[in-house]
Amino acid sequence: MSTTRDVAVFVGSLRKESFNRKLANALIAIAPAPLKLEIVEIRQLPLYNQDDDANPPAASAAFKARVQKADAVLFVTPEYNRSVPGILKNAIDIASRPYGKSAWDGKPGAVISVSPGAIGGFGANHHLRQSLVFLNVPAMPQPEAYIGNAAKLFDEAGKLADDSVRDFVSKFLQAFAQWIDRNIRK
Ligand SMILES: Cc1cc2nc3c(=O)[nH]c(=O)nc-3n(C[C@H](O)[C@H](O)[C@H](O)COP(=O)(O)O)c2cc1C
Repeated sequence: MSTTRDVAVFVGSLRKESFNRKLANALIAIAPAPLKLEIVEIRQLPLYNQDDDANPPAASAAFKARVQKADAVLFVTPEYNRSVPGILKNAIDIASRPYGKSAWDGKPGAVISVSPGAIGGFGANHHLRQSLVFLNVPAMPQPEAYIGNAAKLFDEAGKLADDSVRDFVSKFLQAFAQWIDRNIRK
């Protein structure tokens, strides 16, 4: 549990006041010591184009290299039309190619979905898990994290205002640290 882990965090929203980004920042602040969480930006990425596999755009190559370097990956995402926002799916696709050279392969992962709605982005959370199965990312099964009613979660400063949610995500991160220890490639 004491080895430092580089955890790349991907936020599935570009919105300035994104609840998901607020949660990602809250996670960074409360993560247990071994987990060094860093948001890896995806807004600069061009649309994935298979024609570019042999010579990808610089932003895509840099993103893929950053994923490759990470010990583990954490997705914090909204649900768009009951699925994964296109911007996040695009980032996943970029780092997955060319075929056989995926940067995701074997990295322990976890998923949190956040929504103002009551069911907490369940659909996005599970559609994302479908891709992670194919990408050979062992995604932590429990605790599941579908965080609803997001409009009430944060105070004016963007900090978690709800003790029960803070307690839940803190336990989630502790479980993730153990999940990484168990699943990281030696
Ligand atoms: C294109 C689009 C589709 C959406 N579809 C869903 C949905 O299927 N389920 C849901 O709970 N919220 C949906 N929403 C509402 C988002 O959950 C809400 O905008 C949320 O604040 C987005 O996350 P963010 O705050 O991190 O940007 C949708 C929003 C947009 C813009």
